[in-house]
Amino acid sequence: MSQAPVPVARWRRPFEAIRRRALGGPLALIGVAVALFAVLSWAGPAQAGTPVRWTVPVSTKPADIKAGNVLFDLHCSSCHGMGAVGASAPALLSVGPAAVDFFVSTGRMPLNSPKAQPVRHRPYFSPKQIAQIVAYVNAVDVAHGTPGPGIPAVVAACKKQGPECPTLSEGDQLFLLNCAQCHDASGSGGMLSNGYVIPSLRAATATQIAEAVRVGPRPMPNFGPGQFTDQQVAAIADYVHWLSTAPDRGGLGIAHFGPVPEGFVAIIFGLGILLVVSRLIGNRG
Ligand code: HEC
Ligand code: HEC
Repeated sequence: MSQAPVPVARWRRPFEAIRRRALGGPLALIGVAVALFAVLSWAGPAQAGTPVRWTVPVSTKPADIKAGNVLFDLHCSSCHGMGAVGASAPALLSVGPAAVDFFVSTGRMPLNSPKAQPVRHRPYFSPKQIAQIVAYVNAVDVAHGTPGPGIPAVVAACKKQGPECPTLSEGDQLFLLNCAQCHDASGSGGMLSNGYVIPSLRAATATQIAEAVRVGPRPMPNFGPGQFTDQQVAAIADYVHWLSTAPDRGGLGIAHFGPVPEGFVAIIFGLGILLVVSRLIGNRG
């Protein structure tokens, strides 16, 4: 009695074979169709238009790297060490082109003393020399196997508006949510509780704004690809740049200082005028 299931299974075997043969063809066809669809839909958007390039290429020419090496040894190695391995200042082995371009193009580097807080200055180097220093540090980082974030391509990435392009309203929302608590809604800056100055964003170029977002010059936090896509970074950069270049709509601009100083201006001027008027009335009486 315990052998009973075997003949049943044997009886079914030919039908199983037929079923496999009959279903095998359509199943294989469906498999091929799904794979084909996946390949086509993956290649689809790339064919629809030229893809937006989100980082600026860094020179890998040996001449630029060598020139950058000379500049680095002269102006940076005293603090960052020969070969950027670190000394009194941190190593630059994984900072990436965005950080080097940001710190040097905003004049924060070279610093005068390792203890000083880096602040914005007129850049010490020409754009060509900055590109060479970036090329050198990038080569060091790549050789080390840990290249950091590249220089974000911002406005130039999208000349014509398309679905991939950043919009001002997107930048506005992201800025209010992530940056305005420190930099003020108008981008005019302020102070942090521990005495750090939060700079106005007026002097920064769109590229420097995008770099600051990715790099996070201490004590500002950095925002990686997990927080913002390249498109969102470009949207923020466009918006902040627009904030500082937008024309004033009526009234006094008072240098875009924002709501708190506006109150001061109203109080000082308003009270001043009232005082003068009351003084005049008093004199007559
Ligand atoms: C007098 C010392 C000094 C010199 C010279 C100097 N740096 Fe710096 N650098 C520092 C210090 C200190 C910091 C860290 C600042 C901070 O975190 O507040 C720093 C930070 C940096 C950072 C950011 C590092 C990071 O982890 O985010 C970069 C990039 C950088 N320096 C590049 C350069 C380059 C390029 C030069 C040469 C053109 C240079 N520095 C010259 C002292 C110096
Ligand atoms: C916790 C406060 C804080 C937040 C949040 C913050 N920042 Fe900053 N940011 C700072 C401080 C402080 C500095 C100055 C750092 C320095 O000079 O080394 C700075 C510097 C900058 C600079 C450089 C300005 C210049 O002229 O060189 C830019 C641009 C900038 N921030 C943009 C942003 C944007 C965009 C956001 C939002 C995505 C943001 N920051 C969020 C505090 C903050």
